[in-house]
Amino acid sequence: MSGLFLTFEGIDGAGKSTHIEALAAAFRAAGRTVTLTREPGGTPLAEKLRTLALNDPMDALTEALVMFAARRDHLLQVIEPALARGDAVLCDRFTDATFAYQGGGRGFDLAVLSQLERWVQSVPALPAPGLRQPDLTVWFDLDPSVAAQRLAGARVPDKFESQPQEFFARVSGGYAARMQADPKRFLRVDAEQSRQQVWHDVQAGVRARGLLP
Ligand code: TYD
Repeated sequence: MSGLFLTFEGIDGAGKSTHIEALAAAFRAAGRTVTLTREPGGTPLAEKLRTLALNDPMDALTEALVMFAARRDHLLQVIEPALARGDAVLCDRFTDATFAYQGGGRGFDLAVLSQLERWVQSVPALPAPGLRQPDLTVWFDLDPSVAAQRLAGARVPDKFESQPQEFFARVSGGYAARMQADPKRFLRVDAEQSRQQVWHDVQAGVRARGLLP
């Protein structure tokens, strides 16, 4: 079996976690070994960088570099070995989040992010130009005002969760632009629907692409 790389995106409050878990169970039931992981994070070093990125104030370039530094470690230590073994890798957020949050949300230079993406996602296992990209990205698209209602009072917000709604409107715009640039890679799911309907759409989309029997 060849490896499969799926990523999951959306603004804070879009409700991706339960569906990632459910999809992992569906892959296991189909006989696949699943590597379930997240960004920023997924290795001891990247988890330390996550704590810094989600709590310490820093300028947008520093933030982007921390995200990509964590990603490089995670890609080399966890994602690439898992794909080489033939695992289904389910990763809660990846580079689209950097384009959406640091690019869209913070307004940071997209050309610099693209350069960082090329450096960080170049892996020896792939033929030149050898850029690792997800096979599929599920985007849980939710209106920022609905997300804000869902998040209200849920827990102590981190640095990103405490951003105003306008920030998340720009993050959503960042995701939309990434999808427009590479529509085949994306499955957009309307996350305002009931949890059951969202799960139906996630499953149906993954199956329609032949990734799950
Ligand atoms: P999230 O994935 O929502 O985890 P949890 O559900 O545990 O809060 O949190 C990660 C946060 O980091 C989220 O607010 C988005 C942000 N983020 C970026 O700003 N840039 C990135 O490149 C990534 C991967 C995440």
